[in-house]
Amino acid sequence: MNDAGVHRPLLLQPISLRGIFARNRIVVSPMCQYHSQGGGPTDWHLVSLGKYAIGGAGIVFTEETAVEERGRKTHECAGIYSDGHVPAYRRITDFIRGLGAIPAIQLGHAGRKASSDLPWKDFKPLDDGDSARGLKPWTAVSSSAIPAPRAGSMTPIALSTSDIREMVGVWRDAALRSVDAGFDICEIHGAHGYLIHQFLSPLANRRNDGYGGDLQGRIRQDRSNRSGAWRAFARAAEAGPALLLWPRLRCRASLLASRPGDAVDPGLPRADRTSRQ
Ligand SMILES: Cc1cc2nc3c(=O)[nH]c(=O)nc-3n(C[C@H](O)[C@H](O)[C@H](O)COP(=O)(O)O)c2cc1C
Repeated sequence: MNDAGVHRPLLLQPISLRGIFARNRIVVSPMCQYHSQGGGPTDWHLVSLGKYAIGGAGIVFTEETAVEERGRKTHECAGIYSDGHVPAYRRITDFIRGLGAIPAIQLGHAGRKASSDLPWKDFKPLDDGDSARGLKPWTAVSSSAIPAPRAGSMTPIALSTSDIREMVGVWRDAALRSVDAGFDICEIHGAHGYLIHQFLSPLANRRNDGYGGDLQGRIRQDRSNRSGAWRAFARAAEAGPALLLWPRLRCRASLLASRPGDAVDPGLPRADRTSRQ
């Protein structure tokens, strides 16, 4: 009920999430735009994200934003892997906040889905022929050296254990830049077949070290990344306003089993067993 005695549906009522106050519960989902330049946002982002804030959404997410350059799907994908990106995002977060919405960022890494052409070119894997038009292919990384199912996909390099440990720092730095850029919420993209998902999936992850095998092994890399990002956010929150970190997962029963066809780990919390996508 508002001051005028009119009932407002729950969707339009304000919500407080760990100190972050959103004017309503409408959250604009991350949506890839393929309009970044050198990873940084452009006027396109100011307009497309700004229009959702003008429209009255409570929380506005950026598209998946790569934590490192090789973690982009295409040359036009967004990233926050350089300090130089920060002021460009700050312009957008200031604009969104000024319109009463909460600016939020989704951090991600494409893993073996990297080095592709645009979606309206069917995400065709880039090859040497594309270099002539300025779209040089690059080498993708993944949990194991298994190509993505798309025809023609390159075989990625399997990250070594020391690469994985370094990656924690990469996620942490991207989270810190997100804070500097003025985002209040940071979502870790662990779904849609990207790098974290490539560790979680028994189809993509055939490692036999501590980052593969059973669910606890396959989940370890995601946990480390999240704790790296979380520590960065927690440190920033001590000094400034409240910040929120949340994961996006797509957990089908087949994903949670150790091998395709195995039973789902009964020790998992209920929420982890359901698809969230
Ligand atoms: C154009 C487009 C781009 C998307 N890009 C992302 C993305 O960057 N990250 C992500 O997690 N989901 C992405 N999604 C999925 C959406 O966030 C959302 O989950 C999906 O559209 C289902 O929600 P809906 O039923 O409201 O459309 C994208 C969806 C669309 C339509």
